[in-house]
Amino acid sequence: MIWPAEAIWEAVYPQLPDFTVEVLPQVDSTNSELMRRIRAGQYEPTLLVAEQQTAGRGRLGRAWHSGVGDALTFSIALPLAPADWSGLSLAVGVSVAASLHPDLQLKWPNDLWLHGHKLGGILIETAGVGDQRYVVVGVGINIAERSADGLATPPAWLHEVLPGVDAGQALLRIAAPLVQAVKAFELAGFAPVQAQFAQRDLLQGRAVTLSDGTVGTARGVDAHGGLLLHTAQGLQTVTSAEVSVRPTPMEQG
Ligand code: BTN
Repeated sequence: MIWPAEAIWEAVYPQLPDFTVEVLPQVDSTNSELMRRIRAGQYEPTLLVAEQQTAGRGRLGRAWHSGVGDALTFSIALPLAPADWSGLSLAVGVSVAASLHPDLQLKWPNDLWLHGHKLGGILIETAGVGDQRYVVVGVGINIAERSADGLATPPAWLHEVLPGVDAGQALLRIAAPLVQAVKAFELAGFAPVQAQFAQRDLLQGRAVTLSDGTVGTARGVDAHGGLLLHTAQGLQTVTSAEVSVRPTPMEQG
């Protein structure tokens, strides 16, 4: 696999001095590796791509599986000091989707969907060192068709809409706009991309069930990225990172 590391670096470094791009044939998880480096005192802004992850992680402690060549798995670490962190995963999703294809949708708070199936996900972690906070933004995207073995529902893959685009080309499209989006978020938060999220909002108007049992109808997201849920008790804002959301199955009639 040929990675356009230099082209990526050229596109990103004007926004991030000291930026480096690194490709590893194998690592447990690009998020875990960058978090370890920050804790070890390596603070240079870094984009780390893995051709294979042996212990890829998703939200809520879930595993994220991919095989060599069938997915793009990368993380970006950089110092960040937003006034309000809420909505960052949504802003990242908006940027990644906009870089790839108009058909991509976003499932609150961090999933990328395509044509009714999950295409990828976002995992954001932060570490504080003194007064400085560092963020690690991890993105995983299915590129080529693979077996749906072991998955409850079959996934989507990017080749459905961008045939022939490999992981490196996808990363070249995503990287610079993503860094720009994260830097813009640092200055202005989620509100400026709220309308763009709404255009790709998979849950909008759908009956959903939260993992804590709450049921309601999704009514978009607020200016801080909270999920607005119309429930029997009225309009609730869901902000907890600890809940998962699934469309309520249609009643059999
Ligand atoms: C999710 O679906 O809950 C998020 C999946 C995020 C996967 C990416 S792959 C690159 C980075 N490294 C990881 O271990 N996870 C993220």
